[in-house]
Amino acid sequence: MDASSQAFEIRLKTNAQEIEALLDVLLSDDMREDEIARPETLRAAMHYAVLNGGKRLRPFLVVESVLLLGGDKQAALRVGAALECVHCYSLVHDDLPAMDDDKLRRGKPTAHIAFDEATAILAGDSLLTYAFDIIADDETRLPEQSKLALILALARAAGLGGMAGGQALDLAAEKDVPNEQGIVTLQAMKTGALIRFACEAGAIIAGASAGDRKRLRAFGEKIGLAFQLADDLLDVTSDAATMGKATGKDTQRGKGTLVSFHGIDWAEAELRRHVEDAKTLLAAYGDAAATLAAAAHFIAARRS
Ligand code: IPE
Ligand code: IPE
Ligand code: MG
Ligand code: MG
Ligand code: MG
Repeated sequence: MDASSQAFEIRLKTNAQEIEALLDVLLSDDMREDEIARPETLRAAMHYAVLNGGKRLRPFLVVESVLLLGGDKQAALRVGAALECVHCYSLVHDDLPAMDDDKLRRGKPTAHIAFDEATAILAGDSLLTYAFDIIADDETRLPEQSKLALILALARAAGLGGMAGGQALDLAAEKDVPNEQGIVTLQAMKTGALIRFACEAGAIIAGASAGDRKRLRAFGEKIGLAFQLADDLLDVTSDAATMGKATGKDTQRGKGTLVSFHGIDWAEAELRRHVEDAKTLLAAYGDAAATLAAAAHFIAARRS
């Protein structure tokens, strides 16, 4: 690994530790105002599903986008933690028997195996709603207009026209393989939407100009595509020990992906094109955007 990717990984790890410390507090048994009780098994399942070692890439993108545009880091960490709750909820539900039926996630038993299916479903539900709680809470020190914009953008990214809708299209694609455009659309929804939100949220938190918001959003869209392409590639080229989750699943389930359409060499070349396009979108910021540019590289070159 060269020095700059080493520096990047240290930065990613340091940020992950900060996010995890915050998530650990948010998911402790300390009740928030107006909560009536925190049922222990459900709380423990939420804590398990979140604090089980992910890369924390989405919160990292929020924080780095905020730092690029000169916003408040504490607010960025809270919005990053909220986004990670939505992401972890999506993983818990994605792994359920009715969906991908997976038993391993982040190198550990999936939530429905460690607990039970009903608890996993409810942990997902509670993580999704908690995300909006975290953003709206007084401890997130942002103008109300910004909070409203974040809540709206996150709701759009997570729901029918975003992640959850993409998951529906993804399951349908196991029965009826879509054409290439169909795959791009479903991936932009199931994975791209939350990653795009991560970058756009940075601009909202920083109170940046419409131009900056648009640029960050386009960057997020691009690396979102790269992210799922890399995931599909790793599903073919990697193994469960490295990934911490089952591999070979897409082929096994007959899932149409861009890798199944075009093969590994094409996918690797396409990934490189996505990274170049993403970096071009950041050109206006010069060296200040070096960490976000490195994130684009990391997404394409990641091994897990
Ligand atoms: C996995 O996301 C699910 C996809 C969207 C492909 P990540 O690869 O970011 O998973 P963690 O959070 O690091 O475990
Ligand atoms: C999952 O895509 C995307 C979401 C969880 C929204 P995958 O089903 O490919 O993710 P992995 O491979 O299980 O992490
Ligand atoms: Mg899936
Ligand atoms: Mg899956
Ligand atoms: Mg996958």
